[in-house]
Amino acid sequence: MKSTASAPAKVILFGEHFVVYDIKSILCAIDKRVKVTSTTTDEKKIFIKSSMGQILWDLSNPKQEIKSSFKPFAHIAKKLIDEFNHEGGLEITINSDIPSGVGLGSSSACCVAVAGSVSGLFTKYPKEKILELAIQGEQTVFENVSGADTTVSTFGGIIEYDKKTGYKKLDVDTDFHLIIANSKQTHSTHKIVSKVNEFKKNNSEVFLSLCKKESELVEQVKKSLAKKDLQSLGENMKTNQEYLETIGISNDKLRLMLSVANKTSFGAKITGAGGGGCIIALTDEVNMENTIKDLQNNNFDCFSAKIDTRGLDTF
Ligand code: PMV
Repeated sequence: MKSTASAPAKVILFGEHFVVYDIKSILCAIDKRVKVTSTTTDEKKIFIKSSMGQILWDLSNPKQEIKSSFKPFAHIAKKLIDEFNHEGGLEITINSDIPSGVGLGSSSACCVAVAGSVSGLFTKYPKEKILELAIQGEQTVFENVSGADTTVSTFGGIIEYDKKTGYKKLDVDTDFHLIIANSKQTHSTHKIVSKVNEFKKNNSEVFLSLCKKESELVEQVKKSLAKKDLQSLGENMKTNQEYLETIGISNDKLRLMLSVANKTSFGAKITGAGGGGCIIALTDEVNMENTIKDLQNNNFDCFSAKIDTRGLDTF
């Protein structure tokens, strides 16, 4: 028995960090994918492999601890083996074209694809159920994970998300390109979130006012998206970047990348936690090549991405 699924990466278009303090954020699935193929095996073992390594989990040894970035995937696989009383084991192969560790949701997309692929060996689950499994996998690493990344990866397109009301899919029919440039500076989301919390403690009034402004900005963004107005969306991105600069998650390299990208795109900002990771620049077919060329001429690693509207695919 063999089953394959694939799921997309994501970017945060608006609202990173402020979302931690209950402000609405906007996320978008992008056309970089991870593909996962699962096969049933006779031995009671879960074997997971990708270009980043491999793990073998002997299910007859309940004490074996999984200390690997594959832990969420192994957990999802084991849960499904138990749920469907599968007597044997599984072999899971991960093929990803999503850069990892730079805020593009590589691990979340992988959780979604593993849940889709393994469940497909036994049944045809609705996407909602697959999302639930993917979130449970992520919770083995971060208990308080918001689920926003896995949600946008499962359903595709653009979503709005806040911690209190959850997610809503935005019905947006906008054809834009995002240029994603990677600073190649690794970051710890956890550390940067703590740094922002320090900023909030020391500058409570400024932070409160920024939360209000971000919230208003997100409402404007929804209007710009509905009108397919890329010019104002770009301006919205520049405004969001000013707020991110104020809370101290930018650095010299990111500022240099943004200034290059701002010359030809509609607007650019950091995406995700910052302190490294990636920036995104908004373009269309006309200015896309120039933005890529300018970034590459400055030795910045970049690629273009479009909205992924498919989300999880099982086949
Ligand atoms: O993990 P990243 O780089 O996609 O960023 C996480 C987004 C934050 O808003 C900074 C944190 C969070 O939990 O939402």
